[in-house]
Amino acid sequence: RERSDERPNRQRLLVVANRLPVSAVRRSEDSWSLDISAGGLVSALLGMKEFEARWIGWAGVNVPDEIGQKTLTKELAEMRCIPVFLDEEIVHQYYNGYCNNILWPLFHYLGLPQEDRLATTRNFQSQFAAYKKANQMFADVVNNHYEEGDVVWCHDYHLMFLPKCLKEYNSKMKVGWFLHTPFPSFEIHRTLPSRTELLRAVLAADLVGFHTYDYARHFISACTRILGLEGTPEGVENQGKLTRVAVFPIGIDSDRFIRALEVPQVQEHIRELKKRFAGRKVMLGVDRLDMIKGIPQKILAFEKFLEENPYWRDKVVLLQIAVPTRTDVPEYQKLTSQVHEIVGCTNGRFGTLSAVPIHHLDRSLDFHALCALYSVTDVALVTSLRDGMNLVSHEFVACQDSKRGVLILSEFAGAAQSLGAGAILVNPWNISEVAAAIGQALNMPVEEREQRHRHNFDHVTNHTAQQWVKFFVSELNNTVIEVQKRIRQ
Ligand code: G6P
Repeated sequence: RERSDERPNRQRLLVVANRLPVSAVRRSEDSWSLDISAGGLVSALLGMKEFEARWIGWAGVNVPDEIGQKTLTKELAEMRCIPVFLDEEIVHQYYNGYCNNILWPLFHYLGLPQEDRLATTRNFQSQFAAYKKANQMFADVVNNHYEEGDVVWCHDYHLMFLPKCLKEYNSKMKVGWFLHTPFPSFEIHRTLPSRTELLRAVLAADLVGFHTYDYARHFISACTRILGLEGTPEGVENQGKLTRVAVFPIGIDSDRFIRALEVPQVQEHIRELKKRFAGRKVMLGVDRLDMIKGIPQKILAFEKFLEENPYWRDKVVLLQIAVPTRTDVPEYQKLTSQVHEIVGCTNGRFGTLSAVPIHHLDRSLDFHALCALYSVTDVALVTSLRDGMNLVSHEFVACQDSKRGVLILSEFAGAAQSLGAGAILVNPWNISEVAAAIGQALNMPVEEREQRHRHNFDHVTNHTAQQWVKFFVSELNNTVIEVQKRIRQ
């Protein structure tokens, strides 16, 4: 097929992810309201001159009828988005089931589902079949829009089967796959019944990327020990074909956060927050309400801190923003009740008639409100039990240039590899250690805060989302050129 690109210097980039950066809500039979996600990757990609990006993914809504599919496709096209339509049954089996109940907990070291083991085992095959079917549906849409020379970048654990499906359509397609979660140790991955098929499918890609060196190492060791392939410093050798494996730590669009602090609406928010919490230090947690984020453990650590430090009881407040997510999965429903109970206990124990120690919000905040909150925070608590990277830590640092607040960061978040020297690193399972870190952060002298903040700020502003995209795509282009050279020799 001929290239339709009218700007020949810009490479077309097809970004394929489970979710589009836009969520759609139906207003009537043929009209939609579209809500563009405020995520950093979206704004980074849209602003890049080097690529002409298109997004392919699910719009998060069931659209069974032709009129709906046609009108939504048309509206999304204006935002350079291309929808994949998944019906309710597929969403249930592929997204809620295989992705979020099996792969997500496993990759975060929470194991395969413990409760109702038999049901899980019985459903496993049908969920895996739905997973493959959904990946094939994504591949069909990519294939319909693909033009020679395009780069196809597949994202995350939802689409591990996609590289294989794409290469079956066209072995010359440039295909990269990036995992946003941890890749677990071989001993964990080997428990997955579909361990072999998934690894082989990912290896069909030309380039496979991870946030940290450890995740890449775990992946290579799973390929050598489960598939018996050879791992080299460059990647994995499979019958004379090399799949390049490399590390690409993601970042944020830091300028967007720094600029937002100048916006009058944000400054007004900042003034209000300062007034509301005058005389108290502000601690902040911003997480999706997910078991990997360690929210109950964080609250227990804060409770322990208050228990051991009566002086601080009326001088500190913890604001915990817990954004609801995957609410159809029972594990997530249970977590919501558990968090509410723990927050209620701590507030009951240490609250007074005029103030409570924890303000817990089950909802997301808009971008400006979030920036204002980051900016007035004295101590941020990012205490995930496991996390691929965690960009809340980066966002907090970007908004702290005048305050030099302290970041308490889990050693099990990918971000610990790069912000470790500036943050206080903790084991989030160790409640006493986190409580002690809270004390250390609240009492930290300003010179030390300055030094730690400087380290983190330099990292966050020098390793941006834009650089991450450029680095991955140029590595993918180079990998394909290298492989072609080798074949010719
Ligand atoms: C994680 C995953 C993403 C996912 C996001 C939100 O960050 O790595 O791929 O989109 O969570 O989860 P959701 O299930 O709502 O898309």
